[in-house]
Amino acid sequence: MENLRIMSVFGTRPEAIKMAPLVKELASRQGIDSICCVTAQHREMLDSVLEVFDLKPDWDLDIMTPRQTLSTITSKCLTGMDEAIDTLKPDMILVHGDTSTTFAGALSAFYHKVPVGHVEAGLRTYDKYSPYPEEMNRKLVTAIADLYFCPTENNRENLRREGVEKGVFVTGNTVIDALKTTVRKDYHFTTEILNQLPYGSKKILLVTCHRRENYGQPMEDIMSALAEIARTHGDVELVYPVHLSPVVQECARRHLEGIDNVHLIAPLAADEMHNLMARCYLVLTDSGGLQEEAPALGKPVLVLRRETERPEAVTAGTVKLAGVDRQAIIAMAHSLITDPAAYAAMAHAVNPYGDGAACRRIADAILWHFGRGEKPEDFQA
Ligand code: UD1
Ligand code: UDP
Repeated sequence: MENLRIMSVFGTRPEAIKMAPLVKELASRQGIDSICCVTAQHREMLDSVLEVFDLKPDWDLDIMTPRQTLSTITSKCLTGMDEAIDTLKPDMILVHGDTSTTFAGALSAFYHKVPVGHVEAGLRTYDKYSPYPEEMNRKLVTAIADLYFCPTENNRENLRREGVEKGVFVTGNTVIDALKTTVRKDYHFTTEILNQLPYGSKKILLVTCHRRENYGQPMEDIMSALAEIARTHGDVELVYPVHLSPVVQECARRHLEGIDNVHLIAPLAADEMHNLMARCYLVLTDSGGLQEEAPALGKPVLVLRRETERPEAVTAGTVKLAGVDRQAIIAMAHSLITDPAAYAAMAHAVNPYGDGAACRRIADAILWHFGRGEKPEDFQA
């Protein structure tokens, strides 16, 4: 019997972090050739992940340009994928999550009549402009996919409501698999400033912000709130690895540069980020991935968005939606910085998103789909 050629396609930092352990799991399986194709929708931020996880792509579309538009990303991915698929001849293509790479990768697979496995399937806000364009990307991929790897039971329920029941597996999120390989108690940072932070004597607030639906006034208000939080709380140090998007860079620098207890730093390598998160006091973010990682590390999260497709940790009590209103963000951060009881109520480790065995389940499900193995058990939170 010939080996199955399973091609993972990804292009941005979060997809890479969440696909890296899966690419490796697939490579470790008998009967599978694990192929890795990157679109490089992100360049530096993708390369950093490839280095941390020691991944060498078989194909690189190298599509990134500064201030790229959604149409450019999609069209360049589609054009580039033709040759990649014709040359690498995969039996199945795996895409992850909800980026433009995800959508274009799935559409391209469909054009070539290659079956698609959707990793991190079934997340929804039911608002097509929030997150934008991700909510639409993931719905479109649902229509194309053959296999669905849902992180949680709630995600499976979302698909069921849309009439998708075949080929659905609850696996946990592969980000928890990744976290298990990066976080270490004795970790020493390569970014020297992170070794010097006063973890014992001050409260370290870890911040990230990049979403397109926050561009403009919401991002202005978020950055202004962060400046106010830093200025009014002398006992915090705000650490913000700023996304390389020029829109974000400009806004962050205008509001936060020059404030003594604010550290605007370059994007961190994934292992640096995960270990910083493990040592921080509080996370403020509009990121999807951070909403999954921080609860597993017992860190409270204030989400700088109006809604979330990740309600599990909100239910578990470790994540709160702060929204994008300046005063609301300031008030919620103030409460967690000054009220030990409010903080303690949120600071407990929960794992609604996975147990670290998502990649094993996904690899098993793929082999089962091709009639070459047992069906995996579901992840149960
Ligand atoms: C993309 C995804 C978003 C995901 C985010 C993770 C889409 C439409 N958006 O958003 O879902 O949450 O990645 O970070 O797919 N840039 C660099 N170097 C890099 C990366 C980005 O210079 O390594 C700059 C470029 O100018 C680029 C811009 O950032 O044009 C925006 O990148 P893009 O991938 O279009 O959007 P993100 O906001 O990163
Ligand atoms: N991350 C990182 N370095 C940073 C910021 C984030 O490695 O400077 C990691 C983070 O730990 C998570 C992922 O990148 O695993 C989240 O990516 P991002 O916030 O860019 O995208 P989203 O998850 O919102 O799609």
